Amino acid sequence: MTRPQNASTPAKLIPNLGLKERNTFGLDAVAEFAYDISSAEQIPAVMSDIAKQKLSWRILGGGSNVILPSTLAGATLLMNILGQEIIKADDEAIYLSVGGGVIWHDLVSWTLENDLPGFENLALIPGTVGAAPIQNIGAYGVEIGEYIDHIEAFDVKDQAFVTLQQDACRFAYRDSYFKQHAGRFIVTKVVFKMPKSWQARIHYADLAKQFPDNASPSPEEIFLAVCKIRTHKLPDPKVIGNAGSFFQNPIIPNEQYETLLRTYSDLVSYPDTPGKRKLAAGWLIDHCGFKGQRMGAVGVYENQALVLVNHGGGTAQDILGLAKCIRDKVHDKFGVTLQIEPNIL
Ligand code: EPU
Repeated sequence: MTRPQNASTPAKLIPNLGLKERNTFGLDAVAEFAYDISSAEQIPAVMSDIAKQKLSWRILGGGSNVILPSTLAGATLLMNILGQEIIKADDEAIYLSVGGGVIWHDLVSWTLENDLPGFENLALIPGTVGAAPIQNIGAYGVEIGEYIDHIEAFDVKDQAFVTLQQDACRFAYRDSYFKQHAGRFIVTKVVFKMPKSWQARIHYADLAKQFPDNASPSPEEIFLAVCKIRTHKLPDPKVIGNAGSFFQNPIIPNEQYETLLRTYSDLVSYPDTPGKRKLAAGWLIDHCGFKGQRMGAVGVYENQALVLVNHGGGTAQDILGLAKCIRDKVHDKFGVTLQIEPNIL
């Protein structure tokens, strides 16, 4: 792909930037210096500076999936590439191009206002569009990977812009090629393929319960139902710091699942790939008695045990200390190892 040379002004450099308002855990953190990236063209010069000075660096999107230390040494890139537009349509789909810095939930609302249904199950997920494919955000039976046509990114290893088609992104549960190659790609633009033949997807139990007498709700009705469930189950980061699900739902072999089921008949699980079963980590943590518990400034949310919260003044160490207690107890009781979902920077 060719790009115009010097098409934009250099990225703005901000020294000693406080990040407390830029991470949903509300952790007190300071970036030694931050680059405000508002266009893809700014990235090669920024990365070349970083390489020359041998600095450590990371990208910060919405800060909804990170655990920050008190000081982030080196360079922090604030992903701020905005804009969304319909770029083409064919018989099957409408193609939507979106900047990596657009807020995911704002995009969901925009698509519904513009009669482009598909993202309604993914309403209210915090974070940016550029971060969404990295962990393949998913909720209520839908994952973002299904809607991606291709992704444009800067490949830091090869110092070049690349385009990855959907297949190359290797989407799986909370996983992608970008996550497997952490620190290599900076996602600048996501092109979504929105099928013209929309169908309501309300098979996820919690969502189905919202429509007892209506098997074909509209996208707007689903959007409102998802917002209602999430608002009840998940804490608002503006009120209580959190990063959504703190652990992934563990995937275990069927034999291990059958053994657990003999002791715990109400164990919550879902079918996965052949021979595997996905367990509800929230259920495991809940059944270890952690729900609503506090450990100093941090704790386990009272309505959803999969969510760790910062009641105020908590640090990365406090959160990781609590996470260790939970992992150890779940492992002792069920023989299952939980994986932490947010990135520990
Ligand atoms: N459960 C408990 N106790 C709890 C929490 C859950 O028993 O404290 C049981 C529930 O009764 C339910 C089951 O566990 O039967 C699953 O709970 P829920 O529907 O809340 O979903 P989840 O598996 O805990 C996942 C995603 C969420 C997503 C929901 C809905 C992961 C790691 N998390 O949670 O994603 O919103 O499904 O699709 O896959 C996120 O990633 O930040 C996130 C919120």
